Amino acid sequence: MPRPMTVHVCSQCGQAEARWHGQCPGCGAWNTLVEERAPAAARGAGGGGRARRAAAGPAARPVPLREVRPERAPRLPTGIGELDRVLGGGLVPGSLVLLGGSPGIGKSTLTNMALGHLSAAGHDTLYVSGEESAAQIRLRAERLARGAVPAALDVPVLAETDLDAVCAVLEAQRPAACVVDSVQTLSGGDLGGTPGSVGQVREVATRILEVAKRQGTAVLLVGHVTKEGALAGPRVLEHLVDCVLQFEGERERTYRTLRAHKNRFGATSEVGVFEMREGGLVEVLDASARFVAEATRAPGSVVLASMEGSRPLLVEVQALVSPSELVPPRRVCTGYDRNRLALVLAVLGRHAGVGVGGADVFVNVVGGVRIDEPGADLAVALAVASATRAVVCGGEDAPVACFGEVGLTGELRSVAHPERRLAEAAKFGLAQVVSPEGCPTLRAAVRAALGAVRVAA
Ligand code: TYD
Ligand code: MG
Repeated sequence: MPRPMTVHVCSQCGQAEARWHGQCPGCGAWNTLVEERAPAAARGAGGGGRARRAAAGPAARPVPLREVRPERAPRLPTGIGELDRVLGGGLVPGSLVLLGGSPGIGKSTLTNMALGHLSAAGHDTLYVSGEESAAQIRLRAERLARGAVPAALDVPVLAETDLDAVCAVLEAQRPAACVVDSVQTLSGGDLGGTPGSVGQVREVATRILEVAKRQGTAVLLVGHVTKEGALAGPRVLEHLVDCVLQFEGERERTYRTLRAHKNRFGATSEVGVFEMREGGLVEVLDASARFVAEATRAPGSVVLASMEGSRPLLVEVQALVSPSELVPPRRVCTGYDRNRLALVLAVLGRHAGVGVGGADVFVNVVGGVRIDEPGADLAVALAVASATRAVVCGGEDAPVACFGEVGLTGELRSVAHPERRLAEAAKFGLAQVVSPEGCPTLRAAVRAALGAVRVAA
């Protein structure tokens, strides 16, 4: 068989080159060119656009948008409420959803559960695994069948790494929903490169996309996250698929969050919260209640009224400030951005009279939750201030919630949805809320939360 025509495509900027280069001529990045199958048009005999058009038959005609027939295929609810919400109401037939996450987070469990529910609802499903043997998948399904998904063992499974074989089975079975676990383990026969390389991953996704679109199969592609946190090589798949979901959390922790980074069929702001239990992932619908009940209310602890998508969530933020032996001292964050911590500490010291000097500072968002919204700044600042001064936020019997962005000049800036955050805090009995609405500056917020204790100039 002749080797297919290939191009070398930069995985950073997408520049296509006929030959391999060490440095991309487009963006100047090093070692980013990967070999890929040339697009069909470029593979033509060099006859140019006109020859190709003649071969394709009558010229394409643009259609006014109001004459375009809307697609109204009903969505497939996966039976997992939090997943359906993040997807925007279930899987769309013929769509490709990429589910990323680090190993052990629960991607296989989540996708297995979704197929189990779909199969119980009478849909044809298929679970393709290039990672585990059928026997290993069965073990997981047995756990699920004893727990959250009684139909988990009804899902047909195919343990296969050959892309052609997988596509053939997909075409023969025409399932309504299919999981490919993982996109990095499949490989196509005639293209060079090892499984998981950027070229291979793109080839696998493109071929599966073709089949899925043609026959209306909803596909969940599982992808591992590289050390840098990118999905299967720098953004190679993100523009190909309809929806990119990221499953986050820490393996040892119980809570996991599911967010959409891209969604052609829904909002990207939704977040699902799960807990890994024996028997599968369980949706956590009352996350605020749990986090508030578990909050320690000791010096260094404060409740943050945050927004996870369109949903308010109360989480505890903790800080520890302790004398350091190191130069520079440690600044350790879990669940919050390290650079933001540096900024918050600088503003605290400069504008709010709370200097941490050369002490080590540790900040933790409890429960394995990761907060990346600006409203968390104030919680981090108050937790650090409370730890530094060894004073409980709001006093022993008046727990405090807070939210707000910290500005460089010491001001507090408004963040989205203050009314929903306030309502959530009130719902869980946190009557005292420190926010930009009541405190224009960080100094005022520290005073409101910790009382007018000796504010060092
Ligand atoms: P898995 O879904 O295999 O993770 P991934 O596919 O993302 O690599 O499972 C992750 C972990 O979850 C694994 O360590 C076992 C655990 N687990 C449970 O705690 N309960 C269960 O019911 C199942 C199926 C798995
Ligand atoms: Mg897995």
